Amino acid sequence: MRRSFAGSLTGALALTAMAVAAPQASGGAAAPDGVVIGGQPVQISESPWVVALSSRDRFGGTRAGQFCGGVLVAPAKVLTAAHCVSSDVLGVPLGQVRDLRVIAGRSTLKATGGREITVSGVQLNPAYDAKTNEGDFALLTLLDPLPASDTIRVAGPGSAAYTAGTGAMVYGWGDTTGGGAYAGELRAAPVKVLPDSACERAYPGRAQGTYRPETMLCAGDENGGHDACQGDSGGPLVAGGRLIGLVSWGSGCGQAESPGVYARLSAAPETWAARS
Ligand code: ARG
Repeated sequence: MRRSFAGSLTGALALTAMAVAAPQASGGAAAPDGVVIGGQPVQISESPWVVALSSRDRFGGTRAGQFCGGVLVAPAKVLTAAHCVSSDVLGVPLGQVRDLRVIAGRSTLKATGGREITVSGVQLNPAYDAKTNEGDFALLTLLDPLPASDTIRVAGPGSAAYTAGTGAMVYGWGDTTGGGAYAGELRAAPVKVLPDSACERAYPGRAQGTYRPETMLCAGDENGGHDACQGDSGGPLVAGGRLIGLVSWGSGCGQAESPGVYARLSAAPETWAARS
């Protein structure tokens, strides 16, 4: 099951043409030491808006079926990456996945706390382009609502939180090494919003994919060592208490010269999240 998990994520990356051609922990960058790369465990009570997407049918029960992250933006609405609900990730068309759920209120995947809530609807961003990965947003509707106090607000388009240099945190249960060591507990890593030029330089096109500043956000660590990685997709990038990005793609993990690329929340469909 672990194999199909890793394999399907690799498939997703291939789809968006940015694959982590060679997932690796080294490669010249600072050695990652945890998360999400370079992170540490966090309690879900401190960040109740972080959720896991799960399908035990597709990904097995070892990690409670976790395969992507998501963010609670309204009591019954979860934002995630559009590529997370693609057949390349799921292995079958979304309509054939019978047990798509959101796990909320649980840090340790194999624990029993929190709630598992059935996803009753999935909307893809009409502007999502699976070839370029632009507009990598999907909105999930939950069968049962969670408390409004567990939601996070989205930074408005004019917010200073999107400015290069802003400190941010990325959250997830993904690979902590770039070598397939998936986290059993929620972790978070500190990163910085980087200038668009850093990702334009890293991802000019072709094999590595193309960075588009209108719909994407560049974040990471100029020295490497702090980043999101496989399995973190769809999870939140938060600055100043507001959601600014969703983990979308990158080349390798935690390498100085290849920052993380996030779906830029200021480019999400306007009605999908409360902004402030
Ligand atoms: N596409 C990956 C996923 O499906 C996320 C990759 C993020 N990579 C990075 N270096 N920030 O989980």
